Amino acid sequence: MKVGVLYGGTSAEREVSLSSGKGIMKALKENGHDVIGIDFHPERLTEVMELDVDIVFIGLHGRFGEDGRIQGLLDMLEIPYVGSGVLGSAVAMDKAKSKKVLKDSGIRLAKDLVLHKSNDNYSIDMPFGFPVVVKPNSEGSTIGLTIAQNQEELNRGIEEAFRFDNTVILEEFISGTEVTVAVMGEEGNVKSLPVVEIVPKNAYYDYESKYAEGGSEHIVPARISESYTEMIQQQSVMAHELLGCETYSRVDYIVPNDGTEPVFLEVNTLPGMTPTSLYPDAAKEIGYSYEQMIEHLIQLGLK
Ligand code: DAL
Ligand code: MG
Repeated sequence: MKVGVLYGGTSAEREVSLSSGKGIMKALKENGHDVIGIDFHPERLTEVMELDVDIVFIGLHGRFGEDGRIQGLLDMLEIPYVGSGVLGSAVAMDKAKSKKVLKDSGIRLAKDLVLHKSNDNYSIDMPFGFPVVVKPNSEGSTIGLTIAQNQEELNRGIEEAFRFDNTVILEEFISGTEVTVAVMGEEGNVKSLPVVEIVPKNAYYDYESKYAEGGSEHIVPARISESYTEMIQQQSVMAHELLGCETYSRVDYIVPNDGTEPVFLEVNTLPGMTPTSLYPDAAKEIGYSYEQMIEHLIQLGLK
């Protein structure tokens, strides 16, 4: 089969995407496919438009790759691709909008406050106290994310987050264990894989813990109660479907130290496929090598 791979891109997660793309292309070649890789850049749009392939594996992360725009282009070109379409990609990329969609689902969400750059005089009347998690609304890999312990750090954090996005989301900080659920399957048969627990070397699962070798330990299955395991596996399929996602995604949560219900963080529609990424570790737990996982996703994408 001829498979196109889009990787790299121009988002803040470019480096991550270069690594995901490398892994995906290597696996596809080992699986015997003809691979045409494009380090995607708007100037290379014509290269994409001339792609003569059976399917595209999008190895991009973040803006222009994970947010529905490239998906829309491929739709117009009638080129099949692996993963969510325009709607699911766009909604999932927007953390605040995703939470609005999930508001009445029964899934526990962190309290938040959304700030827009255009409102010069936004008043920060926070419905929760410090510490506060400050995130660009549509970024990945914890880029631009800080945890503010006081007003001064909050002001600095907001400024930092606005460097990456015109919308910033403030969330209550929940002390706990970060876990993630890989989701996989075609419409009507979407399944959650075993829950992965993340033990970062740093204070929290930041960029370095995510991508430096040995930056974190992944424990599968996660050391959380059976009832919470089942709960978040069910919720992950629900979130994937409610947000309109397709084929695969990865849903992140915090399991609070105080024993209360897990808190949803976000859905990633193009989860990392790097050597230190979580999705491949979840797939390994159900018996898929990295190459088999990529092949399975390609087959799902062709359905
Ligand atoms: N945004 C990164 C790639 C992830 O979720 O794995
Ligand atoms: Mg993310």
